[in-house]
Amino acid sequence: MTHKILVIHGPNLNMLGTREPETYGAATLADINAALVLHGQTRDVEVTAFQSNLEGEMVEKIQQAIGMYEGLIINPAAYTHTSIAIRDAVLLLTMPVVEVHLSNIHKREPFRRHSYLSDVVAGQIVGFGMQGYLMALDAILHILQKS
Ligand code: DQA
Repeated sequence: MTHKILVIHGPNLNMLGTREPETYGAATLADINAALVLHGQTRDVEVTAFQSNLEGEMVEKIQQAIGMYEGLIINPAAYTHTSIAIRDAVLLLTMPVVEVHLSNIHKREPFRRHSYLSDVVAGQIVGFGMQGYLMALDAILHILQKS
């Protein structure tokens, strides 16, 4: 059975490729989305990707995921460390949610070490660059196959 998974990328991730490549790598957001779609195809998973620089748009997209997708991969970017609104939206979901960060937020500035999502998601994958998104897809599939 085909599974539908939504991927939400937060602010400034549209600038990947040129944005601090020493921290975030050389891959563009289009590269990451293409890799996710390909990875999904080999596992019978349909991947839909969405990026926004706006907190409210991300909240709306999370709400709209209800009944449409079976899993969510989210990199809320800077909103990770600030957004109770995104946390509350994630709490509306019963599907597995995996939080991804390209960089290892735990070995960066202290303000990046706290995530408003980490205790309301199935798990967090940090520090593996673009590979982390593919790992997140597999983690969601694993959860779906168990349930
Ligand atoms: C990030 C880490 C955040 O602290 C930062 O604000 C980002 C990207 C990451 O993927 O490593 O924009 O979420």
